[in-house]
Amino acid sequence: MGHWRIKISLVAAIYMTILHSSVAHNEPEDFLHAHGCIRRLLDLPPLVWDPELAKVAQAWADKRKDCKLTPSDKVGENMAQGPNLNASYAVQMWVEERPDYDHAKNECLPGTQCAHYTQVTWKNTERVGCGRAQCSDGVCYVIVCNYDPPGNIVGEKPY
Ligand SMILES: *[C@@H]1O[C@H](CO)[C@@H](O)[C@H](O)[C@H]1NC(C)=O
Repeated sequence: MGHWRIKISLVAAIYMTILHSSVAHNEPEDFLHAHGCIRRLLDLPPLVWDPELAKVAQAWADKRKDCKLTPSDKVGENMAQGPNLNASYAVQMWVEERPDYDHAKNECLPGTQCAHYTQVTWKNTERVGCGRAQCSDGVCYVIVCNYDPPGNIVGEKPY
């Protein structure tokens, strides 16, 4: 009988693991961990999750059925899209702009974009909230993150 109990709990553990890896990788902590990697590297304070920012981000993502990265009129916003895009990969794409940011001049290299990176690494930003929605093609997902206080203030360096 004890034997069966072990089997059942093992099955439950495996099921929970599968459930966790397939469902729970776009949770607040996934976004926070992804931002935390680069912010820790640069000795920047960690961000905390803001449910109100997340609500606004989710509402904007839900409207992006065309998968276009149309910015809202909010400042402090990062957007990304891609096939089955998840939290960690969206943040990774933004962090990959890092080589295009010239810290000494506080500008992007000519012909490049680096504002997503400077928002992710904006020292004075304290809170983040993100949303994720499926585009109408059924393949791509849009991710929107909103930041407060917003970064990319003209004339200021992120860090
Ligand atoms: C997130 O997406 C990337 C790129 O498609 C993939 O390599 C990675 O395994 C995904 N992460 C999770 C936790 O599913």
